Amino acid sequence: MRTILGGNKRKIAGKLLRRFSVFLLSVCISLNTNPLVNADTKLDRKIDQLLNRMTLTEKIGQMTQVDRIGLFEISDIQEYGLGSLLFGGDSILPGTTPGQLADLVERYQAAALKSRLKIPLIFGVDAVHGFNNIADSVIFPHNIGMGATGDPTLVEKAARITAIEMAGTGIKWTFAPCVAVARDERWGRTYESYGETPELSTTFGVAAIKGFQGAELQNSDSVVACAKHYIGDGGTLHGTGIARGNDQGDASMTEDELRRVHLTPYIEAVKNGVRTIMVSHSGWNGQKLHGHEYLLTKVLKEELGFTGFLVSDWKSFLQLPGTYEEQVAAAINAGIDMMMVVDSYQLFINTTKKLVESGKIPLSRIDDAARRILKVKFELGLLNRPKINHKLRKTIGSEAHREVARECVRKSLVLLKNHSRTLPLSKNLKHLLVAGKSADDLGNQCGGWTITWHGGSGKTTTGTTILQGIRNAVSKETVVSYDRDGKSVQEAEAAIVVIGETPYAETKGDIVGSKTLHLDETDRATIENVKKLGIPMVIILVSGRPMIISEELNQSDAFLAAWLPGTEGQGVADVLFGDYSPTGKLPCSWPKNMDQIPVNIGDADYAPLFEYGFGLSY
Ligand code: GLC
Repeated sequence: MRTILGGNKRKIAGKLLRRFSVFLLSVCISLNTNPLVNADTKLDRKIDQLLNRMTLTEKIGQMTQVDRIGLFEISDIQEYGLGSLLFGGDSILPGTTPGQLADLVERYQAAALKSRLKIPLIFGVDAVHGFNNIADSVIFPHNIGMGATGDPTLVEKAARITAIEMAGTGIKWTFAPCVAVARDERWGRTYESYGETPELSTTFGVAAIKGFQGAELQNSDSVVACAKHYIGDGGTLHGTGIARGNDQGDASMTEDELRRVHLTPYIEAVKNGVRTIMVSHSGWNGQKLHGHEYLLTKVLKEELGFTGFLVSDWKSFLQLPGTYEEQVAAAINAGIDMMMVVDSYQLFINTTKKLVESGKIPLSRIDDAARRILKVKFELGLLNRPKINHKLRKTIGSEAHREVARECVRKSLVLLKNHSRTLPLSKNLKHLLVAGKSADDLGNQCGGWTITWHGGSGKTTTGTTILQGIRNAVSKETVVSYDRDGKSVQEAEAAIVVIGETPYAETKGDIVGSKTLHLDETDRATIENVKKLGIPMVIILVSGRPMIISEELNQSDAFLAAWLPGTEGQGVADVLFGDYSPTGKLPCSWPKNMDQIPVNIGDADYAPLFEYGFGLSY
């Protein structure tokens, strides 16, 4: 029944109502049930509730990342409450199908769900140019080629496809993008970088992070990205004879240069929501990053406000000075949240527990690390335990995905020379000679981090070689003959010679000691053989970086840098025969000779063979 209050009574009622609503609001705020409270606070409360139930050992367990090969017993996942498993470069056996991988992941996860608090594992893998760990996935050009495309939208698309192709196996964390600013081509990981400037690494790194993490991290086809390797991995000093490779070396520079060149990508990565960052093996002015509290905590977490978690690199804390205990304490106190211990996880957990109990690692540091890890797991939707979206595996290697990769290849090609318009070639030549060790070699096209850690030559996965692409492109009447060493004597009207590097990863690709970036003997002989035929010769360089090619450039009529194009070699033919004009631009300066390295735009006496940003079109 409605009663209408008299004037006086109305005033009193209004006062009471106002007081009650203020009281109600204050109660809500204190209980955090206020609908205006942002989701983060609600999430933080959930995390705190879980954290408060965890023992010290369980918190340290969450900080422990083990490689699946380093796992002694599956039941150890439950016994030690491990936080993460990674599939390192060689940890997925070649021939493993996506379905078998998903089964393995589900078996590991089932063990985690038997732990006291049932906190799921987060699985990590180096999906750095596609879901490159299993056969039949689409392999995109490595980052150096993606940098040459000048197209961040395409980089985002490629990352999105990579996330979709991997998420169907339950692996929801990729150790990518590498946002290194590669300043010295002697570094074996130059191809993992988008190029030599912070602008490239930043623009493309952010695009990749958006692609990997998708619209919502909770979505079944989203994966957590990992900007790496923090910080200065691409800027380490590279004199000859350094025993260890570059990213295990030392960046010797002022803080101003470190910030201007190498920190910029991380500033934008954090602003754009990257949820994990991997610490570099390398050092800065003599101090290893894995023990660098100023750069890990003061700069990254406090100054930049990074709220995700920091993961170490592969056992890298063991490169710190001191005993094992001192190394663990130094790394965790510096700000590392998850330790990629790979194996010997019992030792790590027991040692860390002792260090906390003896006060050498503050409990607050452990709580902070565990909280950061749980936060990302909650954000990823792991704690609601969503099932793997098995349907996603049907998309692996799909035509639609391959078409996007083919576009990446087209746009990554940089035309360095085109004497008297040798290119584009006609599709109606009577006879076309193709030569070179990398013309019909999918493994060479893909480079390292493909099926295995270092990759390998030969038919290591499914795709289209450059030769197959050429054959698909020309008319039925055209004879395409393939002579690996170019000793063909048959009359041909033109020749295409595909040469360059064979696959490598990390320090295996470092140019140290007597090694150089000149073409190998096989390639030089092939070019000589074809040169003798006296016909127009197009040279295509398949490599992870600029090589020393001044001589071969003169011998050629046209010269194309193809970087490491991946599985969709058809994209090379698209440009060779003029369906598309080359648009790629150099993401790095091209040195004339070894003495010129390092050479980077902005150098005082800057006079490379080709400048940063160079690229011809038709
Ligand atoms: C390697 C690499 C890093 C990779 C990690 C896991 O040492 O430095 O890029 O993500 O191990 O495979």
